[in-house]
Amino acid sequence: MPNKPRVLLTRRLPPDGMKLLERQFDLEVNPLDEIMPGTMIVESIQDKEGLACLLTDDIDSKVIEAASNLKIIANYAVGYNNIDLSSANARKIAVTNTPDVLTEATADLTIGLIVSVARRIVEGDKFVRTGRFKGWSPELLLGSDIHGKILGIVGMGRIGQAVAKRAHGFGMKVWYYDKKRLPEDIEQMMSIHFSGFTQLLNGSDFISLHAPLTESTHHLISNRELAAMKETAYLINVARGAIVDEKSLVDALKGRVIAGCALDVYEHEPSVTPELLQMHNVVLVPHIGSASIEARTKMALMVCDNLVAVLVDGKRPPNIVNPEIYLQ
Ligand code: GLV
Ligand code: GLV
Repeated sequence: MPNKPRVLLTRRLPPDGMKLLERQFDLEVNPLDEIMPGTMIVESIQDKEGLACLLTDDIDSKVIEAASNLKIIANYAVGYNNIDLSSANARKIAVTNTPDVLTEATADLTIGLIVSVARRIVEGDKFVRTGRFKGWSPELLLGSDIHGKILGIVGMGRIGQAVAKRAHGFGMKVWYYDKKRLPEDIEQMMSIHFSGFTQLLNGSDFISLHAPLTESTHHLISNRELAAMKETAYLINVARGAIVDEKSLVDALKGRVIAGCALDVYEHEPSVTPELLQMHNVVLVPHIGSASIEARTKMALMVCDNLVAVLVDGKRPPNIVNPEIYLQ
């Protein structure tokens, strides 16, 4: 067999994914059990043809410039805001992501967060564990109903749609806002109502974010938008932290401008604005939207398929996000 293509993997993946990658490639794996430092990536990437990286790796112009043989950057995530696309495009490097396989897992977590924050599950757990449960009480940990309420979904892509389906099972009404409206027959089939952004902010009881992080969604939710929400409303974010101005969110929670929030992602991940840690009406989880064994394994297989397409078969990868590199 001719020499296998050289690939850098910035963090060990679940075992099935590792086996596949090791079979196909001459693999260099980050030896540390932590995020690979940028300087190490720059150092290791120089002789590689493929890069398999995480959403926590900043693949900027410095990394791309150092990688003179690089043909593909395969992100182990659906979001790819961590990759400098214009530098990749300039060098005609394919960039791929892992859509679809994590949609249902992320939608499940979203519903979990809605229920947790509205019905105070995390608070209740702490209450029991700390020995404070002294018997059933009419006013113990009262939360908010979920059925009959309006869920406002911002970003009606795959994940937003999977959340909408689940929300109907809970008896919620679903409104959505997206820069691109879905065809009316799909809206009807899914029983979802397209609304303006302001109308969604004003009318929703729960607002859940499912948009990618781009220049236009950065701080999409800030002071003004939080002030437009109902005082009884909850904000859920499983997308990317920087879509919300975390400082404004803290102010809004302190000032009781909204009722609470549940976050899987943070503006300055992995650090979390300290005040959030003190608030009872806030549910915090550590970026685990896609963290089921099934989803993470399928994501690893997808990364492998994309690398194989480019580096072994010389083909366009199935999950390309910058197809424009193939034009001309
Ligand atoms: C997770 O946040 C992902 O983008 O896959
Ligand atoms: C991402 O997978 C989305 O389309 O929501």
